[in-house]
Amino acid sequence: MKARAATSFGEDATSSAPLLRVRSLTTSYVGERGSLRVVDDVSFSLEGGKVLSVVGESGSGKTALCRSIMRLFPTSKVHVDGQVIFDDQQLLELDDLEMSELWGTRIAMVFQDPMSSLNPVMRVGNQVAEGPRRRLHMARSAAKERAISALKSAGIADAKQRYSRYPHELSGGLRQRVAIAIAIANGPKLILADEPTTGLDVTVQAQILSLVNQLSHSAGIAVIMVTHDLAVAASASDDIAVMYAGRVVEIGPAREVIGHPRMRYTEALLLASPRLYQTPHARLNAIAGRPPDPLDLGPGCAFSPRCPHADSRCFEERPELTASSEDQRHLYACWHPASAALDEFAKLAVK
Ligand SMILES: Nc1ncnc2c1ncn2[C@@H]1O[C@H](COP(=O)(O)OP(=O)(O)O)[C@@H](O)[C@H]1O
Ligand SMILES: [Mg+2]
Repeated sequence: MKARAATSFGEDATSSAPLLRVRSLTTSYVGERGSLRVVDDVSFSLEGGKVLSVVGESGSGKTALCRSIMRLFPTSKVHVDGQVIFDDQQLLELDDLEMSELWGTRIAMVFQDPMSSLNPVMRVGNQVAEGPRRRLHMARSAAKERAISALKSAGIADAKQRYSRYPHELSGGLRQRVAIAIAIANGPKLILADEPTTGLDVTVQAQILSLVNQLSHSAGIAVIMVTHDLAVAASASDDIAVMYAGRVVEIGPAREVIGHPRMRYTEALLLASPRLYQTPHARLNAIAGRPPDPLDLGPGCAFSPRCPHADSRCFEERPELTASSEDQRHLYACWHPASAALDEFAKLAVK
């Protein structure tokens, strides 16, 4: 028996209001081909001290979701609807000045490529100290102390020496740690990390993800971490949201989503993940077909053209997110959900 889900994931987790509540968030980019709905009716909540990973293939709207929460868009032709309530403030109603006061202080972003977000001609320590100086109005020496402490918290052991290095003198992993130090230097409550470890080698990825996880838990920071890698999401997050064609199609505790995927797209993603599917007879099961053209979506489930389980209902009627009977925090949108437990995944991946 499936119960109809509450509209927002995570609302019932505690009696106190969650730090971030996203409700019916819908974002369209208006371009030459018309209005492209890149985030479609997304709702979830996130508490401080928790990491939510957002996974999905390229183009599914993960970056657009982060940008919608931050209100940092690549184009001015954007239409956003819904609510983003952060610490009881409706961010979509703030003016640009009010919003820019939140950026870098209460809300911070870690970008995929630190080489492009770091200033190549400025010592990394000064880049970390810039936030505390400008935003928190700290004196130079206090800001330097704060920066050294942020570099240490970001796992940079000899922070005092590394302070005066330039980005190109550091490895990719260290540069991403500097980007994390910049993000945490002003003591944010929410960090959005968009593919923070893509391009780094697997060991360094694991170290950085475990750092983000630890920072989130110890400092009570809510983290939204975008990744296209389910193995990454499985090992480093409390909750996982799976996006497809701008919608959240499955969301829940990491152990549930990885161990008992319901939505057929999540199942397909897991079976196509070589780092998770490590049984001796594992075969690579790439997902057939291509992600849909957002301008050409039918009325049904957006995954139906690629789904081996789809029938006429799937093509005609869009399934809403519903709660699993086993765990009310596990929601999925699928007419023919998977029932088998993929416990092997859970054992391998979730700590
Ligand atoms: N600047 C832009 N203008 C118009 N469409 C864009 C722009 N950036 C991204 N898109 C489109 O928005 C959709 C979602 O993209 P994105 O959020 O970047 O996906 P993801 O981060 O999951 O790879 C895609 O269809 C992409 O083509
Ligand atoms: Mg992206």
